[in-house]
Amino acid sequence: MKDTAALAEKQTESVISHYATLAYEYDRRWNRYSVVSLELLAKRVDMQDGEALLDLACGTGRLGGIIRERTPGVDLTGMDLSPDMIKMARGRIPEDARTRWLEGSMQALPFDDASFDAVSCSSAFHLLTDQRKAMSEMARVLRPGGRLCIVDWCRQYPQIQLIQWLARTVGRQYRRILTPDELSTLMSDAGLEVESSEKFNATWFWAMMCILARKPG
Ligand SMILES: C[S@@+](CC[C@H](N)C(=O)[O-])C[C@H]1O[C@@H](n2cnc3c(N)ncnc32)[C@H](O)[C@@H]1O
Repeated sequence: MKDTAALAEKQTESVISHYATLAYEYDRRWNRYSVVSLELLAKRVDMQDGEALLDLACGTGRLGGIIRERTPGVDLTGMDLSPDMIKMARGRIPEDARTRWLEGSMQALPFDDASFDAVSCSSAFHLLTDQRKAMSEMARVLRPGGRLCIVDWCRQYPQIQLIQWLARTVGRQYRRILTPDELSTLMSDAGLEVESSEKFNATWFWAMMCILARKPG
């Protein structure tokens, strides 16, 4: 338990300091990767006007921007551990009655049960120290019939296995990149029904997965 708390603290410090500088150039540096991965996520989560979306580890708010452009009537909440990423998100879409950007960890969500029609998370699930807890939090805040869409790196590919190995080697033990089966199992264990599981390439190097699940009801 003490080890888990220490690891979570280390992850929080590492993420905040990593994105303190990267936040201001993230969109430019990761442009191609982000366009491909977020366009697919936006397509699969398929928001409708009037629905509420929670985008976890929202980064600079780019997914929210894509979705708002197509469905202006979506109620948008984004949450991220990095204050600098949140600052960029606020700059992209100012807060108003239908837009909130919050600092915080997706491992403990400050929302009531059944608050959202959809939850999304892109390129961040592998960073979590307690993936099971985060998954049960995501399932908890979804309304019955609501959907969860996660896009992340895919450990079925050798280059991603290498990234996993390198992260551990340089002391980022909290990184845990999953395979589609492992992520789907976590979703099922949290009471969600997996609807689709896809693998895709965000760039020639970045082998990814996109898994969509629904809360029964
Ligand atoms: C690679 S960026 C992806 C940002 C965004 N989802 C996108 O695809 O453009 C990873 C993000 O995860 C956030 N993050 C890492 N651990 C987190 C946690 N426990 N809770 C919330 N956000 C977290 C980081 O601050 C960072 O903004």
